[in-house]
Amino acid sequence: MGKNVVVLGSQWGDEGKGKIVDILTEHCAGVTRYQGGHNAGHTLVVGGKKTVLHLIPSGILHPKVKCFIGHGVVVAPDALLKEIGVLQDSGVTVAGRLFVSPNAPVILPHHIALDQAREAHRGKLKIGTTGRGIGPAYEDKAARRSLKVADLLAPGLEQKLAPVLDYYNFLLTQYYKAEALDPAEVLKAANSYAESLRPYVLDVTGKLHELREAGENLLFEGAQGTLLDVDHGTYPYVTSSNTIAGGVCTGSGFGPLHLDYVLGITKAYTTRVGSGPFPTELVYDVASDSGDPIGKHLGVNGHEFGATTGRQRRCGWFDAVNVRRAVQINSMSGICLTKLDVLDGLSEIQICTAYEYSEDHIPGSYDAASFNQATPVYETMPGWSESTVGATELSQLPANAQAYIKRLEELVSCPITIISTGPDRVETIILDDPFKA
Ligand code: GDP
Ligand code: IMO
Ligand code: MG
Repeated sequence: MGKNVVVLGSQWGDEGKGKIVDILTEHCAGVTRYQGGHNAGHTLVVGGKKTVLHLIPSGILHPKVKCFIGHGVVVAPDALLKEIGVLQDSGVTVAGRLFVSPNAPVILPHHIALDQAREAHRGKLKIGTTGRGIGPAYEDKAARRSLKVADLLAPGLEQKLAPVLDYYNFLLTQYYKAEALDPAEVLKAANSYAESLRPYVLDVTGKLHELREAGENLLFEGAQGTLLDVDHGTYPYVTSSNTIAGGVCTGSGFGPLHLDYVLGITKAYTTRVGSGPFPTELVYDVASDSGDPIGKHLGVNGHEFGATTGRQRRCGWFDAVNVRRAVQINSMSGICLTKLDVLDGLSEIQICTAYEYSEDHIPGSYDAASFNQATPVYETMPGWSESTVGATELSQLPANAQAYIKRLEELVSCPITIISTGPDRVETIILDDPFKA
């Protein structure tokens, strides 16, 4: 029997999922994306060479591995084709290795226009989306008006697209006072992708089960993170998909009892990009170089700028309340702690161990309003002055770094089985490999 491993984010995304998926791919036959879209930006560094992937699974750099985009992903055909082109130009073979579900909804120009018009309309209350049309594409799925990848390949596209564009143009012009889109142009764009996409289209669910029945190892790669989940995150400051482990089943058609291990990728501190509550934030503004010095340390040393939009990521202390919740929601088997090296040089490190709420807090509520009523309670630990960069053995870490890791394990009730000490594949301490565990 093969093993089926889920790798997903425990916080607000950008935890370092891409790097770890790339490493673990060595042991598996297929890597599958099951939710999100090209809002994701997953960075892989191999021998100093950086690759950023948005839609293509982070297994693509391993030549023998197959990569799948399940029907839970919202697929922007232009972004996908561009990404394929970039990889091919750098010598990576994609043809025959990448497969897209015909049932995945597509993102077309009207989704992007509505996403951006909405954000402009919300003004100060904007979500801070990536502006890639992700929200509207998922809305269309729930509203049963999506165009799927299969629709781009089949006859009758114009008839399917026309009523949708009619609706979008009404919304754009009448409610958001934005420009209408020319239906002929959108149709032209949609048609132009069809033939290039066709060779990649496959029954992904069927293929995954075929591989499973053949005893192969499979990996499922999450995008975003638990706190951006549309049901479990800091609503409404979330993305529009289920980023949690349950999303694997709905977004790929792989049943829950086939999953053997859930690895939660977890930064040794916290970051978030976009708006929304962040109780442990240490506010620092890079443009004016003003704000909290620890916030600056984390942002500068961690190069905390978005891999998709280039925006400055907000930084703060580790939040054990949230990660513990993520451990529970995702039934995490193990945690991979990333960017430990970014804490090097701090004399003290704080960990949020609990929240104190104001009196008007509604017990059990877990949305943006609830987070805004929370005051973090901190525990302080000693930091370390030695460098942990590139460590590959636990024994190479300073005693205080080891104590920090141990304390996090206790607080979140999950073993830390992998520790990442730099962006490169090799800068990793693997205590327990999920494919062998
Ligand atoms: P993802 O979206 O979860 O795949 O993460 P991103 O790629 O958006 O952001 C993680 C960033 O941190 C990337 O620039 C990685 O190259 C980098 N990174 C990953 N792990 C480590 C680490 O252990 N230490 C350092 N310094 N950087 C890391
Ligand atoms: P990876 O996979 C971090 C955030 C956006 C915004 C919110 C909604 O690289 O970890 P959307 O465009 O999805 O409607 O935006 O979600 N967001 C991410 N933040 N990492 C990501 O992906 C993200 N994908 C979306 O910044 O706050
Ligand atoms: Mg990212």
